[in-house]
Amino acid sequence: MRCLVTGGLGFIGSNFIRLLLRERPEIRIVNLDAVTYAGNPANLRDVENDPHYRFVKGDVADAAAVREALKEPVDAIINFAAETHVDRSILDPEVFLKTDILGTHILLEAVREKKIARYLQVSTDEVYGDVPQGESSEESPLRPRSPYSASKAGADLQVLAYWNTYQTPVLITRGSNTYGPYQHPEKLIPLFITNLFEDQPVPVYGDGKQIRDWVHVEDHARGILHVLENGESGNIYNVGGGNQRTNLEVTEQLISHCRRSPQTHITHVADREGHDRRYALDTTKARALGWEPRVDFESGLHSTVEWYRANEKWWRPLRSGAFTDYYRRQYAHR
Ligand code: TYD
Repeated sequence: MRCLVTGGLGFIGSNFIRLLLRERPEIRIVNLDAVTYAGNPANLRDVENDPHYRFVKGDVADAAAVREALKEPVDAIINFAAETHVDRSILDPEVFLKTDILGTHILLEAVREKKIARYLQVSTDEVYGDVPQGESSEESPLRPRSPYSASKAGADLQVLAYWNTYQTPVLITRGSNTYGPYQHPEKLIPLFITNLFEDQPVPVYGDGKQIRDWVHVEDHARGILHVLENGESGNIYNVGGGNQRTNLEVTEQLISHCRRSPQTHITHVADREGHDRRYALDTTKARALGWEPRVDFESGLHSTVEWYRANEKWWRPLRSGAFTDYYRRQYAHR
């Protein structure tokens, strides 16, 4: 199989590419990535010379760049390219619309024009919005509540409209909160780990009782591959770990793994505007297709802390320069 992976220098995309190269030795991969603050060449340093892998620098929202990446034919496109951080979307929404919605549209047009056999849209459980009780199934209404999740929902609707209108062979996966190696230190788990390593406090939004459903990136990437190979066109599949935890529970485990203390290291700060209290996914459909998560949350969290401990060279540069300004903008007023 030949495939175009977009956003393959990001967190989930890079883990997916590494999985493909390891488990599908015949694969040929083109990775189209804009190399933004989150698209980091260091995420794939270990495979960049692999003859089955080719990198093209470019933006999914730029039709010429997509054309260039598709110069050689492919059998599938897997779209990871997205702006993903809710807090950044609150500060500056426009780029989310451009990358997440316009980028998806340009890729869908390419699939249609070149009659590509499969298109998989990597989406998120955040499109379902706040879920006070129960679990979201693929049939649940879309009630996105942040500029980020509204952009992702807009993209999902475009994807489904192409299936309905042109029978473009599309699939959507909706993943839950993902953690593991190579996640940018702006997100809860790696931010808190790296703050704790530096003996700094961790900023818990509001009461910290918000609930997220955590899935390890290895399980998430395997879920996407499984849906790509076995899913039925026009369908959506939820990919969640089934690990519902409050942010405080996660924080306390991280503090314990980093050998710090909750009394000295937790700071409650002003809550995120419009903060969704809870996400929870019903994954019956993906399980019926033959996928299930394998990584136990507690051991996955522990090994993630150890990965960051062993890979300071990777995360240290990400916490300097522009990140320092972002951190100030995001946290100084709270
Ligand atoms: P995040 O990793 O940003 O993912 P998402 O907002 O997409 O779920 O945040 C996970 C949870 O952690 C969310 O409820 C917000 C909370 N959070 C904090 O309490 N403090 C922080 O500094 C960050 C980044 C997140």
